[in-house]
Amino acid sequence: MDPFFFIQLADPQFGMFARWGGVTDEVIEAQLFKGSKVRKAPPVQGFEDESRLFTEAISEANRLKSAFVVVCGDMVNDPDSETERAEVLRIAGGLDSEIPIHWVPGNHDVGADTVSATPESLRTYRGAFGPDYFAFQHSGASFLVLDSITIDNPSPVPGEWEAQLEFVRTELAAAVSRGGPIIVFSHHPAFLKTPDEPTDYWNWPLERREVLLRLLRDADAKAVFAGHWHRNNYSSYGDMQVVATGAVGYPLGDDPSGYRVVKVLPDRVEHDYYAFGNGPGSVEL
Ligand SMILES: [Fe+2]
Repeated sequence: MDPFFFIQLADPQFGMFARWGGVTDEVIEAQLFKGSKVRKAPPVQGFEDESRLFTEAISEANRLKSAFVVVCGDMVNDPDSETERAEVLRIAGGLDSEIPIHWVPGNHDVGADTVSATPESLRTYRGAFGPDYFAFQHSGASFLVLDSITIDNPSPVPGEWEAQLEFVRTELAAAVSRGGPIIVFSHHPAFLKTPDEPTDYWNWPLERREVLLRLLRDADAKAVFAGHWHRNNYSSYGDMQVVATGAVGYPLGDDPSGYRVVKVLPDRVEHDYYAFGNGPGSVEL
């Protein structure tokens, strides 16, 4: 395979600055108690900050000549907002025509209540962004995009988890027989610290996590890249890297808004996170 690199983005989440702008100290304190750093800021409306940051991400992909761009979910904050979706898609349209973009569903995109999908919210998502789980290849490497919202809670969308599991089995088998590295994208990180950590808001639920991790390990997948946590996190499962990437948009930790450059090399996958304004001059492979 020829080495290449791509840019991974997560959580541009149009509307989130407005969601958390102007909240009281009590709300900030309550969020901090849950581990999320909401900033004290005056109230704002719309999504001016998100537009600026996502435009920066797209222009970095153009400048560095990324092989493709993947957006690991939470494109919008409000799943019912046509204006937020339209702005994401308008800015993504500024990507050079030879650079494909791949959308991964987030809980704020496909979750009707920002947590769980319904048949209708899935239909809306698929109409705007395309399939919620799919596979693609680039230069001898195989990529799987997962819908971690139906992994998180399959019960309101009967049959979706079973169909996705079948898809994962089929695509992993095809990728193994093709050879080359296998890389997976998901909105929710598989886990943050340990593969057997308890289920919570931030990870794949243990019951389905065990099934998926076993399949990925058997296929020798190199990495799972995710978002959702709005800050960086690095873990591993055997030789497989389990990475959460900071937000393009509103940060919930100490990592500033930014993007990840992922190099796919014949024997390994390397990556770095860059804050906007602090990107590399070029990417050496
Ligand atoms: Fe998010």
